[in-house]
Amino acid sequence: MTLKPGVIGDTKAGRAACSAVVGLQWGDEGKGKFVDLLAAEHDAVVRYNGGANAGHSVVVRGERYSLHLVPSGILYPGKMAVIGNGVVVDPWKLVEELDGLTKRGVDVSGLSCSSRAHVVLAYHKMEDALREDLLKKRMGEAGAGAATDIGTTRRGIGPAYADKAQRAGAVRMGDLLRPEALEEKVGLAVAMKGPALAALAKTLGAPSEPLSAPDLIRGAREIGQRLAPMIKDTTHLLHDLLGAGKRVLFEGANGSLLDVDHGTYPYVTGSTCISAGIGSGTGVPASRVGRILGIMKAYSTRVGAGPFPTELKDAIGDGIRQRGREFGTTTGRPRRVGWLDLVAVKYSVMINGATGVALTMLDVLAGMDEIKVCTGYRINGQVTNRFCPDAFELSRIEPVFVTLPGFKEDISKARKLTDLPTNARRYVDSIVENIGVPADLVSVGPDREQTIEGKA
Ligand code: GDP
Ligand code: IMO
Ligand code: MG
Repeated sequence: MTLKPGVIGDTKAGRAACSAVVGLQWGDEGKGKFVDLLAAEHDAVVRYNGGANAGHSVVVRGERYSLHLVPSGILYPGKMAVIGNGVVVDPWKLVEELDGLTKRGVDVSGLSCSSRAHVVLAYHKMEDALREDLLKKRMGEAGAGAATDIGTTRRGIGPAYADKAQRAGAVRMGDLLRPEALEEKVGLAVAMKGPALAALAKTLGAPSEPLSAPDLIRGAREIGQRLAPMIKDTTHLLHDLLGAGKRVLFEGANGSLLDVDHGTYPYVTGSTCISAGIGSGTGVPASRVGRILGIMKAYSTRVGAGPFPTELKDAIGDGIRQRGREFGTTTGRPRRVGWLDLVAVKYSVMINGATGVALTMLDVLAGMDEIKVCTGYRINGQVTNRFCPDAFELSRIEPVFVTLPGFKEDISKARKLTDLPTNARRYVDSIVENIGVPADLVSVGPDREQTIEGKA
């Protein structure tokens, strides 16, 4: 047998065919907007991490769509959308989202979901909520200095990834189509988790309903039937697409500083959010991705607990929250707001291998006299520009700020760099100078059109 050329080899075109969009902060940077924009020049959009904890907003001709599990590229007719094996899928949420999109006239027939993606079941969400409540209770009892709750989205993300690593009793999307596998796995999960969850609920004085394996299995079979046509081997599907010269866009969920390894652990999510997650989360080697667009806000936000060196707990922060409509897409929680932290962003650029950034929400800073940017951390009297992702250490650093002049003009109608007032341009330039990669795009509003190409 002879090997056909091109079958196993990589081609230049193949390499350039892939792009990725990743968040460089603590999520909600505006990834949805840029996935939607870049989807226009790709054939497929692929999620590789996270689950329904993500909330990606896309505004198309004034209409707002909020996507949680479905890749944001679905809004372009004719594009393929893929939920990769690295995602944890709540199939009921997925059906709800698909029904909502269909009602609004979006064609969702191009969606595929990996048979190896893990399933979020009711007990994962129960465990997520009970663990958070327990942390809150202990914090209340122990007072200051105790570990706080993580502030998760309570969507069962951590427990589902924990089960994936634990293996026994973990359910994958393909299992939804195999009654014997469901019986065995759900039965085992209920036997292992039921008593622990009941005990946890008792400790909290919370009502607990015993887990019913037959009910869970029935529900899982029903939802599996509904999703059956889209459950498949997406690794080969993606490689077939690439082999046919198609272009693929990877959509990162959450943010680099929420990455389970490289983020501010333990105040993180359960998955690999950075670009390295593409390989494990889809089966397409991250080395095939030619363009990695990092999305960063012109300031910082964080939802949930954890250290946040540049946090603003004053009227300036409230003003940014109101103007930027900084309330969670998934949970509706007000987002914590702070000045831009370039130490953190520079670190995220480095660990993602970002080839450029899209700077979002620049319009939100209009009207301020001055804008502060954190360019260093003071630790034990020494100043460093190296980010420390350790939550304990990070909570002890003091941010070092540079103050830049603000701009008064409304910039939401700017469409070229030269339309921006001088001080807004200076702000962009100082960011680029500090992080060492170009601002490929600057965003001045949620709409597709409110976007500026980085070249003057
Ligand atoms: P994602 O999770 O990274 O996709 O971000 P979210 O959708 O959770 O949050 C970003 C929010 O900002 C959404 O409501 C977007 O519509 C909106 N948005 C995106 N870019 C801009 C921008 O440049 N200016 C303003 N004002 N809003 C933006
Ligand atoms: P997108 O994709 C902002 C945060 C939660 C919490 C922590 C752990 O919209 O940017 P989890 O439910 O994942 O166990 O919560 O991570 N978090 C996000 N914050 N945007 C997100 O996604 C997030 N996904 C998780 O608030 O602090
Ligand atoms: Mg979001």
